[in-house]
Amino acid sequence: MVEKISVAEARKPESIGRQVILQGWVRTRRDSKAGFSFLELNDGSSLGNIQVIAGQDLDNYQTEIKRLTAGSSVTVRGEVRQSPGRGQATEVHATSITVHGWADSERYPLQKKRHSFEFLRTIAHLRPRTNTFGAVARVRNCVCHSIHQFFQEEGFLYVHTPIITASDCEGAGEMFQVTTLDLGKLAQTGSPPDFSLDFFDRPSYLTVSGQLEAEAFACALGKVYTFGPTFRAENSNTSRHLAEFWMVEPEMAFFELDQNMDLAERLLKRIFQDVLARCGEDMKFFNQRIDPTALETLEQIVASRFVRLSYTEAMDLLGRCGERFEFPTRWGCDLQAEHERYLTEKHFRCPVILFDYPRSIKPFYMRLNDDGRTVRAMDVLVPKVGEIIGGSQREERLEVLEERMREQGLNPDDYWWYLDLRRYGTVPHSGFGLGLERLVQFITGMGNIRDVIPFPRTPGNAEF
Ligand code: 4AD
Ligand code: MG
Repeated sequence: MVEKISVAEARKPESIGRQVILQGWVRTRRDSKAGFSFLELNDGSSLGNIQVIAGQDLDNYQTEIKRLTAGSSVTVRGEVRQSPGRGQATEVHATSITVHGWADSERYPLQKKRHSFEFLRTIAHLRPRTNTFGAVARVRNCVCHSIHQFFQEEGFLYVHTPIITASDCEGAGEMFQVTTLDLGKLAQTGSPPDFSLDFFDRPSYLTVSGQLEAEAFACALGKVYTFGPTFRAENSNTSRHLAEFWMVEPEMAFFELDQNMDLAERLLKRIFQDVLARCGEDMKFFNQRIDPTALETLEQIVASRFVRLSYTEAMDLLGRCGERFEFPTRWGCDLQAEHERYLTEKHFRCPVILFDYPRSIKPFYMRLNDDGRTVRAMDVLVPKVGEIIGGSQREERLEVLEERMREQGLNPDDYWWYLDLRRYGTVPHSGFGLGLERLVQFITGMGNIRDVIPFPRTPGNAEF
C-alpha cells in the first residue's frame, strides 16, 4: 500500500519500510559522482527535512532531477529506509519524482545563504519557506491550540466579538476609522463629514479590544473568552507594536483581581508547557539560533511562581535600587521599558504581575480602590518583552463608572449599553487581554514582533 504522509511522519523510525508519497519543496540538491542525487525535501510539517535519494534509473533523472533547485515543488514516491547517515533516522529512496513547479535559481530570492530578517520582511510572501518562519508558524499554531484547549477545559465559552465598533474600549482614541463616505469628494467640497450618511449612521472604527462586548456576555454566561484581531492606530515604530495584532481576552463574572491573576498565571504556564512538549524541535532551533536562554527561561517559569507586586511597591523598589535609569521613576507615571526590564530581568528574574496602578494612567473601566488613588489593574511583565498581559477587575458600580468616564473626557451616553450591564444585575467581574504576538515573541526569543505574525501591519506597511 502506498500512503501520502508528511515529511514529519517519514522522519520517524516507525516509518521504515513504508511505501509513501511525499509532497513538498526542494531545499537543496546534491549530486554524487556515483550517479544519484540527494534532495532535501520540506513540506512544513517539521523543521527538519527528509533526504530523498534519486537514482539515475528514474526516467527523468537527467532531464529534470538534475535540474532541480531550491524552491521547486515535487511529488516523490518511494520507500522509507533506515538512513546510514548521521543526524537522521530515515531517508526515502525514490521510485518516481514528479516536478510540479520550477524555481529559477537566478531569480528565486531564497538561496542557501542566510538572509536578514529585515530582508525577509520585504518578501513576506516567501519567508514562510525559511526555517525560522516555519518554526514561528508552528509555535504560533501550538500556542493558539493550547489557548483554546485551556479555556474549553476550564468551562469558558468562546464568543465572537465584533471587529467593527462605535466604542473606544481603551478610551485612548487610537482607532482606525471605517467609512464608506467618499473622502476625495469630501476633501473637494471642504465641508465636514455628515456621519448620519455613513454606512453605520455614526463614526465607526476597527476595534482596539473585544472587552466591552465580552463583558456583556460574561454578565450573562459567566466565563467567556474572545480571541481575534484587534487594531491600534498608534504611530509607534517599535519592536513590540503592531497596528493589527491578535488578542485573547477572557472575561469572568464573579472574579476578583486575585482570581484574575491566578488565571493569567495558569494560562501562561499551560501554554509554555504545551509548547515545550509539542514543539521540541522548533524550540531547540530557537535556542540555538535566536536566543540561547529560550528553553531554560520557559522551563524555569513553568516551575516557578510569578512575583506579585503593587505599583506603589514597584515604584519604591525602583526608586531605591540604585540603578541609573534614563527616565527617573515618579509615582503617577507609567513604567518605562527600562523599569520593566529591571524588575523582570535583573531584580526578580521572572515574570512579575504589577497591580493597583494610579487611576490617572489606566482606562475608565478599571475598578476604583478604596484609597481613591488607584485602580484594580494588573499587568503581567516578562523578561525581554515587557508587558504581555493587561487586565483588571472591572468597575461594577454605576455612579463610580460614570464618574470615571467623565474624568477621562468620555461621554457616558455613548456607552449607555455598557452602563446597562451595571444597571441590571451588576456583578463583580474581571478579565484581561493577552497579546498573542508578544507571547510568541517571548516564547521564541524573536527580537522583532513583525517576525512573529505572518503579514505584519505597521505604519507604512500593508503591501502583503
Ligand atoms: O493592555 P491592553 O491595551 O488591554 C486591553 O486592551 C484590555 N481591553 C484587555 C482586557 O482587559 N480585555 O492590551 C492587552 C495586551 C497587551 O498587554 C499587549 O500584550 C497587547 O495586548 N498589545 C499589543 N500587541 C502588539 N501591538 C500592539 N500595538 C499592542 N497593544 C497591546
Ligand atoms: Mg496595557
